[in-house]
Amino acid sequence: MTEILAPAVFFTHGAGPLPALDEPENAPIGAFLRSFEPQFDGVKGIVIFSAHWSNEEVNISSGASPELYFDYHGFPPAAFEFRYPAPGNPSLAAEVKDLLAAAGIPSTLNSTRGWDHGVFIPLLLSRPKADIPVVQVSIKNNKVAADHIAIGAAIQSLRKKGIAIVGSGASFHNMEAAVGAMRAGKSMERSSIEFEKAVRNACCSPKVERNEKLARWDEFPDARFAYPDDGSEDHFMPLCVASGAGGERPGKVIFEGMMLGGACCSAFRF
Ligand SMILES: *[C@@H]1O[C@H](CO)[C@@H](O)[C@H](O)[C@H]1NC(C)=O
Ligand SMILES: *[C@@H]1O[C@H](CO)[C@@H](O)[C@H](O)[C@H]1NC(C)=O
Repeated sequence: MTEILAPAVFFTHGAGPLPALDEPENAPIGAFLRSFEPQFDGVKGIVIFSAHWSNEEVNISSGASPELYFDYHGFPPAAFEFRYPAPGNPSLAAEVKDLLAAAGIPSTLNSTRGWDHGVFIPLLLSRPKADIPVVQVSIKNNKVAADHIAIGAAIQSLRKKGIAIVGSGASFHNMEAAVGAMRAGKSMERSSIEFEKAVRNACCSPKVERNEKLARWDEFPDARFAYPDDGSEDHFMPLCVASGAGGERPGKVIFEGMMLGGACCSAFRF
């Protein structure tokens, strides 16, 4: 019998709450996330890594019903009215911690931390029924790609138990360039296309090659345009986790589009 694995995916989650507010510059990402819903059918739990929670050591939200943590500012009131009443899953959180420990990766459970927008924005679009328990996991603030690939690899066995592993970040995060262009009503002077091509080429390679390439993402063309050296590569780390949790076969591009003032961005399934 062929083994059915729950998905390992990377979502570009768009700019703040905008995909869920149907803001035109983020509409393609919103439409993609909505179209993803059937791929969660049959999934028993979602372990999701958000670029918006980063710590020295991995932290895991282990509450039974975490609140939403509205970690953005300056958006219309509707952006603060979202609800995502999915349950947490303390035992799944503990299992994630044990699997990480077995791989020599220390982590801490946090039963009070709410789900940030890197979790609730993509999930309220891609699983509006909110019927699947969710565990949020942080990334590491060292932002080392190889560490995050190892984190994904450490928990990949959960997929055989029906647990989806989701990385939530962005394959482009030069917000100054993108927002500046959007406000000026013109496209960016430089596009992120060369970087995005290299990311897609890496992700669409078989596992070993894929992870080797992603570990050296900062050598990709325009890497420091896509992620200026100010910590913005935190948004690349969830992609590394998803790839690390992925299968042997090449990953697949499941979304390619634009956000804000013409930044290329992608989503992948591994
Ligand atoms: C994350 O875990 C560390 C221990 O590794 C702890 O000191 C820190 O307070 C945690 N951070 C959050 C935001 O929960
Ligand atoms: C849990 O997370 C919250 C919010 O980030 C933080 O304030 C708190 O210190 C954390 N608790 C522990 C035990 O790390």
